[in-house]
Amino acid sequence: MRRILTLAVILVAFMVVSLSAGVVMAKDSTGKPMTMMMKKKPLYDRLGQKKAIVAVVDAFVAQVAGDKRINKFFAKTASDPKRLAKFKMHLVDLICAGAGGPCKYTGKDMKTAHAGMGIKTADFNALVEDLVSTLNKFKVGKEEQKELLGILGPMKKDIVENTGGRVPMTQKGGY
Ligand code: HEM
Repeated sequence: MRRILTLAVILVAFMVVSLSAGVVMAKDSTGKPMTMMMKKKPLYDRLGQKKAIVAVVDAFVAQVAGDKRINKFFAKTASDPKRLAKFKMHLVDLICAGAGGPCKYTGKDMKTAHAGMGIKTADFNALVEDLVSTLNKFKVGKEEQKELLGILGPMKKDIVENTGGRVPMTQKGGY
């Protein structure tokens, strides 16, 4: 009896640990239980790979072009088809590579690309809002949206340069 109880406790403990570690019990062709690890596909695949990213970027750029809060930043880009195509291609490659896809981003780093534009936090937030609204239109899942924003969000520090007139600590006292 004691042995059966001990075995039962070990079995329950194993099941709890297995489930919390994302291990599922399945049966092989002979009906014997086997354990396998659940592996999430890379974000790139869950987004629908390159074709879907190109479609999302197209719609996103169109949405930004119609957004009165920030479209002044893109006036020159939108009026030059070659420049617009290159910008879109760079955005696609950045997202594709960031999501673990087989692309290489060959554009400028984020600091250089946005230097001197005077982008404020409000502008950045407006652009993120447009992106989320586009992702919703394409029915991209909440988890995938979260992961994508987790990749793009940290770029904010290199893109936003106008902090609203606050003087950085290093410049206090002037030099
Ligand atoms: C996470 C947010 C952002 C990402 C990932 C991003 C990404 C990029 C990329 C990849 C480029 C192209 C760089 C190159 O061609 O070498 C670019 C350029 C540019 N970005 Fe952003 N950007 C972001 C936020 C913003 C914001 C908030 C604004 C303004 C409201 C903005 C305005 C521009 C403009 C005007 C260009 C130049 C486009 C051109 O080449 O004509 N970006 N950005």
